[in-house]
Amino acid sequence: MQNGYAVETRNLTKRFGHFTALDNLNLKIDTHAIYGLLGPNGAGKTTAIKLLCGLLKPTSGEAYVLGKKVPDRSLLPQIGYMPQETALYLDLTVHYNLSLYGELYGMSGKRIAEREKELLRFIALEKWRDAPVGNLSGGMKHRVSLACSMIHEPKLLFLDEPTVGVDPELRASFWEYFNGLKRAGVTIVLTTHYMDEAQHCDEIGLVRQGRLIAEGTPTDIIKRTRTTNLEDAFLALAGHQADA
Ligand SMILES: Nc1ncnc2c1ncn2[C@@H]1O[C@H](COP(=O)(O)OP(=O)(O)OP(=O)(O)O)[C@@H](O)[C@H]1O
Ligand SMILES: [Mg+2]
Repeated sequence: MQNGYAVETRNLTKRFGHFTALDNLNLKIDTHAIYGLLGPNGAGKTTAIKLLCGLLKPTSGEAYVLGKKVPDRSLLPQIGYMPQETALYLDLTVHYNLSLYGELYGMSGKRIAEREKELLRFIALEKWRDAPVGNLSGGMKHRVSLACSMIHEPKLLFLDEPTVGVDPELRASFWEYFNGLKRAGVTIVLTTHYMDEAQHCDEIGLVRQGRLIAEGTPTDIIKRTRTTNLEDAFLALAGHQADA
């Protein structure tokens, strides 16, 4: 593995025409960790995740995932990706959506059935197994999308706003589950706008206008900014950037 990191980027840059969405991003994410990318709307978080999954081609710079330079097809079975905009078949049931994703990864019918059971329990949608996804509420669709991204038990999960629209009780249970995955050796890279969630990450990176402007453990960032919570820490960092 590339220096033992789950993810490493070197001056990763993405331009759309003349607009720079991601500007020389340098990340080093440890294995078995939960890393949170934070930043305002349009900061470049989704662009970064898509580059790491090999769904976008960088304009310059490189990304390494589990030791391999992206894009690399052999990485696909090892990574899971939950897009910000859910990619589900609305006319198909929850069960068929999960099965389709499992089949895409070449899983056996038996294993898919086992995983489906576990994941439906995790997202608390057992009763909705045979309902078309189009009939589910926004937050429920999001939960199905999260389950689809992990059906094949990936080592590394990229979750783009996994808990948006999910009710507080379930969000808490998601975090318990994420921590369980971490203990089992899974690395999770996620984006969030919720500061209480950022607090649960081992490390966070704050992106603004395509640049990583701060990185560290939540405690470090709070200490460095001489604030008492992450919300104030980020406001302080954003203010500092605006003045720069
Ligand atoms: N395909 C594209 N073509 C042109 N511009 C794009 C494209 N994709 C993203 N952008 C621009 O790049 C910038 C970063 O977008 P991105 O989706 O990465 O932001 P984000 O941090 O994920 O925001 P949010 O919190 O709203 O999800 C935005 O200004 C967006 O308009
Ligand atoms: Mg986004």
